[in-house]
Amino acid sequence: MTKMHIGNVSEIDRKGSRTLRVNDMEIALFRLSDGEVLAVENKCPHKGGTLSEGMVCGDKVHCPLHDWRIDLHTGKVQEPDTGCVPTFEVEVDPATGAIYLTV
Ligand code: FES
Repeated sequence: MTKMHIGNVSEIDRKGSRTLRVNDMEIALFRLSDGEVLAVENKCPHKGGTLSEGMVCGDKVHCPLHDWRIDLHTGKVQEPDTGCVPTFEVEVDPATGAIYLTV
């Protein structure tokens, strides 16, 4: 596991996202309306939709392709659909806003 400094919270709008590539995987970082930052693989478990282009609603993102809802804390798809995406640990330094991602 590697912990990396990947940017600052000020670079992501609330309810917005950012993507980054780590090894062969694309990761989507989301900033919720309460300011929390969460990270999941940027690929819907249904048919590979780009989650970073979806709408953030509470702590869920709606896949832009067929509207599956994915819980950004657990990576789980909301029922009645099933599946889950990998999640990654994110820490934000409260003093500086620096974001650290563990992959
Ligand atoms: S690809 Fe995400 S809901 Fe179908």
